[in-house]
Amino acid sequence: MADKTEAKQEIERLRSLINYHNHRYYVLDSPEISDAEYDALMRRLQELEAEHPELLTPDSPTQRVGAAPLEEFGTIEHRYPLLSLANAFSKEELLAWYKRIINIRGKQDFDFVCEIKMDGLAVSLTYVDGKLVTGATRGDGYKGEDVTQNLRTVKSIPLSVPRDAPPRFEVRGEVFLPKAGFKKLNEERAREGLPLFVNPRNAAAGSVRQLDPRVTAQRPLDIYIYQLGYAEGKPVPDTHWERMEYLKSLGFKINPRNRRCKTIDEVEAYHREVEEERPRLPYETDGIVAKVDSIPIQESLGYVAREPRWAIAYKFKAEQATTILKDIGINVGRTGSLNPYAILEPVFVGGVTVSQAALHNEDDIRRKDIRIGDTVVVQRAGDVIPEIVGPVVSKRTGAEKVFSMPSHCPACGAEVVRLEGEAMHRCTNAACPAQALEKIKHFVAAMEIDGVGEKLSTVFFEKGLVKDAADVYYLTREQLLGLERMGEKSTDKVLKSIEGSKVRPLANVLFALGIPNVGSETATLLASRYSSLDKLAAATEEELQGIPTIGPKISESITAFFRQDGNRNIIEKLRKAGVKLEEEPREKRPGGLPLEGKEFVITGKLASSTRSEAEAKVKALGGTAGSSVTKRTSYLVVGEDPGSKLDKARNLGIPILTEEEFLKMIGEAS
Ligand code: IVH
Repeated sequence: MADKTEAKQEIERLRSLINYHNHRYYVLDSPEISDAEYDALMRRLQELEAEHPELLTPDSPTQRVGAAPLEEFGTIEHRYPLLSLANAFSKEELLAWYKRIINIRGKQDFDFVCEIKMDGLAVSLTYVDGKLVTGATRGDGYKGEDVTQNLRTVKSIPLSVPRDAPPRFEVRGEVFLPKAGFKKLNEERAREGLPLFVNPRNAAAGSVRQLDPRVTAQRPLDIYIYQLGYAEGKPVPDTHWERMEYLKSLGFKINPRNRRCKTIDEVEAYHREVEEERPRLPYETDGIVAKVDSIPIQESLGYVAREPRWAIAYKFKAEQATTILKDIGINVGRTGSLNPYAILEPVFVGGVTVSQAALHNEDDIRRKDIRIGDTVVVQRAGDVIPEIVGPVVSKRTGAEKVFSMPSHCPACGAEVVRLEGEAMHRCTNAACPAQALEKIKHFVAAMEIDGVGEKLSTVFFEKGLVKDAADVYYLTREQLLGLERMGEKSTDKVLKSIEGSKVRPLANVLFALGIPNVGSETATLLASRYSSLDKLAAATEEELQGIPTIGPKISESITAFFRQDGNRNIIEKLRKAGVKLEEEPREKRPGGLPLEGKEFVITGKLASSTRSEAEAKVKALGGTAGSSVTKRTSYLVVGEDPGSKLDKARNLGIPILTEEEFLKMIGEAS
């Protein structure tokens, strides 16, 4: 056995050698030694550490294999929030962003840095005294999950940095799974019969947010660093470009495709080039990020809500692909509408494999002249439902078939009609089982019964346990336990979630009932006007039309809904089950008022109300409204064109709410 001092020296030598080769291989993509030579160094280090466990340290390269699994992730509060980016979808929007900055600065006294917008998972890494101490996900921007153990397994993340690095600093970047790694991972999963990941981003996120670091260690994750969060104890360059160069010198992986640009035309050209190169890039991306290079100028530009004015994500066009339209299927919606959808030969587009696409209605299919058997162009942008752009007419063989809507409902066989002025065909059977099931699914989602998803709703319906939405509240423990794959634990979870939904706000109940033409916004409006379902049921059409935005179509739909016996029955069943059908007067809420002890300051223009109206709402809920930001401020609500209060709140670390978040907090949005 090697003597201890000798062992220590050899361990240190091996570690720095392995770190050097890791960096060459994983960060610089330019290895100097063969895999076999590298493995031999690693084995020797493992041997020595096994012989001298007291010399093992967490930053040893052998420790990337993954620590023991966790029960749950801890939380890490970000010292400075991780923000989002505003988007530009066209050259005009990019120019509008540029002009806003010019308006503020008076002239272009800055350069840009253009980067590829990586499609992965944002993480924050903190280094103290040269060692990686924490790694966190973005979370809600203010607090993220502690995924340190998992990030330690990502080979391109340095576990330690040179001695001359700042004593404490944070970097931010995107962890991603290269396309090739994603393909290999899914092939392995297919062989093992495991569910496949839909796209590299989900696979990367799933791998990082994984309780067992040993699993993360098996995934070929990579990272590009795109921001220096902060640095303490040592001055750092004051341009973004030089900061990235500096981080590169500390061993971090920076995308070599980043480019410093002098003019907005160069930014535009970068966007064009990357978009052209996109299919050949080894990773997924959906745009570029343009940033103002100078950090002092970035700081002078500041933020609008959670988006910095100094950066913008300039997105690429929706990705398109061609495939075969195998058939057109029909879904029957909860109001009886027959919704056609395309059944496609699976094709990879916009980061996912698409095998179905929306086809709106018969007129739409006719207008686009889409025929069964056609080669079609499919498009998918962001997270939206894929759509069919149109047929590739030149590929037609003559065997394609023109589609027409069935004359009878594919679910129940009843007659199908198309009412005048409507684009939709509808099933005429009020008792159509497909409609009934869709109504149940809609109810469960709108009442936020999280334990019961679409699948379970279908099982309940097919087993005859739930015939209408209200039946969900009459499910028994025994019935649930009698279902396949429902153990004690899942049964408890489902029952708890159903019970918990009984006290949802009236707006949820109104939306959940599925009154035709009453979407979630109208439901919220109605709930604020009528404090109970009974009062709404008693309202006349004239009365309803007195409410702004409610016209004859909606008012007729509401009164007709409450006249129908079937609907009244459901409401009575809900009442008997103990579902809250009125808004509790706010003063009577148990445990005091919801905003008690909280001080709100509002800055900028709100879209939903005037500032004094918003302040009145805060007060009605027990909160107070302040006029300036102080240490006592609980939240700053930010509307359009906020003033200096926003900077002050940022400096004091006061939580900042967008208008939407504020409305959610006061129960006026869902
Ligand atoms: S900069 C305040 N640069 O995009 C600006 N973000 O919507 C901070 N992203 O969650 C972000 N590539 O994870 C920046 N080169 C890049 C990026 C990038 C991907 C992600 C990031 C963030 C989201 C912003």
